[in-house]
Amino acid sequence: MAHAQDQILTPRTGTTIVPEKMRDGVDLEINGRSYRHTGDEQMPLLWYLRDVLRLTGTKYSGEHGEGGYDLVLVNGKLASATHLPVIELAGKSVTTVEGLAAADGKLHPLQQAFVDEDAIGCGYCTPGWLMASLDLLNRHPQPSDNDIDQLPNLCRCGCQTRVRRAIKRVANGGHA
Ligand code: FES
Repeated sequence: MAHAQDQILTPRTGTTIVPEKMRDGVDLEINGRSYRHTGDEQMPLLWYLRDVLRLTGTKYSGEHGEGGYDLVLVNGKLASATHLPVIELAGKSVTTVEGLAAADGKLHPLQQAFVDEDAIGCGYCTPGWLMASLDLLNRHPQPSDNDIDQLPNLCRCGCQTRVRRAIKRVANGGHA
C-alpha cells in the first residue's frame, strides 16, 4: 500500500511536487549522551555540533581542516569534524572538548595544565589542541618534543611553546 509520503502532489499551478521520504534518523552518541538526527544525513558533524546541539567548542578549520581547530575523537580516534557526515557516525561514540571536564565541572588534567601553563591566548585553537593532545597522550604517554611538534594544530597567538609545556606537565603527572 502506498504511503501518504510517497504520493505525488500536483498543485493547481501544474507543478509536480514529490515529497521527501520520511527519514529514519541517525543515532549518535556525543559526550556520553544519545541523540537522533533526523535532518540531512550528509550534514558535517561540525555543523551538527555547532548549529543543532550548540556545542560550539569545536571550531571551523577551513575547507581542509587545516589548523586542527575542528578535531574531535570518534571511538577514541582523532578525526576532523568538518569531514565527517553525520551518517558515518551512526552507532559511534564522539567526544568533543565539551566532554572532557567531569560532570561536576572539574577540569580534565589537560585542561588544567593548559590553564596552569597559560597556554590559552584567544582560545580559538584550544579545543583542537586539547583533543589532539589527548589523542597523543593516549598513544604516547611520554611524548617527545618531536611527537608534540607533529600535531596538526596551529596557534596564531604563538602559544605552541606553552602548549608543549602543558602536555609535558600531564605526562609528568601534573607537575611542571
Ligand atoms: S590561542 Fe589564539 S589561535 Fe591559539
